[in-house]
Amino acid sequence: MASPDIAAAVDVLRRGGLVAFPTETVYGLGADAANPAAVSRIFAVKGRPRNHPVIVHVAEATAIKAWAADVPPDAWALAEAFWPGPLTLILPRADHVPDAVTGGASTVGLRVPNQPLALELLESFGGGVAAPSANRFGRVSPTTASHVRADLGADVDLVLDGGACTVGVESTIVDLSWGGPRVLRLGGLSVVAVSDALGHPVIVSAIAGPPAGVSGGIGAAEVPAPGTLPSHYAPAARVEVVAADAVGERAAALLGQGRRVGLLAPERISGLPDGLDALPPAGGPQAYAKCLYQRLREADRRGLDVLLAVPPPEAGIGAAVADRLRRAASTA
Ligand code: TXA
Ligand code: MG
Repeated sequence: MASPDIAAAVDVLRRGGLVAFPTETVYGLGADAANPAAVSRIFAVKGRPRNHPVIVHVAEATAIKAWAADVPPDAWALAEAFWPGPLTLILPRADHVPDAVTGGASTVGLRVPNQPLALELLESFGGGVAAPSANRFGRVSPTTASHVRADLGADVDLVLDGGACTVGVESTIVDLSWGGPRVLRLGGLSVVAVSDALGHPVIVSAIAGPPAGVSGGIGAAEVPAPGTLPSHYAPAARVEVVAADAVGERAAALLGQGRRVGLLAPERISGLPDGLDALPPAGGPQAYAKCLYQRLREADRRGLDVLLAVPPPEAGIGAAVADRLRRAASTA
């Protein structure tokens, strides 16, 4: 028997409503992936352009056969190695997948999340749940239920509270829909882990689908995935990525201009100017990933004009954290 919360959430999905639910990466804003009107509501609530596809979440790897026209051996290898987990596979879509889900592309993104409530929801619902991150378009992703409520309020019919997300940055997206495997978005799973599981190298690139004019290409979106747009994940405070040894000088200059300046860094840095508002140290790469979006929100809560951000070393999940900080910092 499903818990009362799960039963209520399944009911909302069946009626075409929106359920925010926890995953190990970030909270998702879910709708029945087979119901185009329900999926359209996601776009309206997020304020997201309609040609940006959403990921379909399923309860187990074998369910992807219902959504993908073709599941190549590499997809099964990655599913076996990393699902449930922070990995999204892009595959050729099955004919019945609504355009609202794929943004009109000929591919579909699929993922089995590693979070007990999410899995219970997906199992009880039985179908696929289309879900982007449960934040307004371009803003900071939510990693707690209260972030979702603060951001989306009454626009979401039900919020399942699973506590804080354990990974804290979005899934790694691997495109297997044409040519060799390509990582479209760095995320919770490292590129090295992906290539190790496949037994061959993967390309890391940011554009979904084959370049225009590639023969045999499937004409997938030539739109960059939003998580790969230069400017994304941004708090209201301006983010500047700086090296640890440059923080003091930059902070002094900004404080001298009368700005409210904060610091986000893996560890405490000594000898910094008075008046610099240091957020609690983010810790090593995993801890940094887990607290990243919380800290970006905290920067806004403190009313900072500028957040100086020292990234973690760019290995493993640290690469995803550094990527998010650069995008948060970008004004492009
Ligand atoms: O960790 C995650 O992936 C979270 C949780 C909720 O699962 N979801 C998430 O969704 O980050 P969203 O919509 O914020 O980002 C999904 C990314 C977007 O950049 C989207 O463009 C890309 O996945 N995507 C989805 N389907 C795609 C497709 N068919 N082809 C290329 N990119 C796709
Ligand atoms: Mg997102």
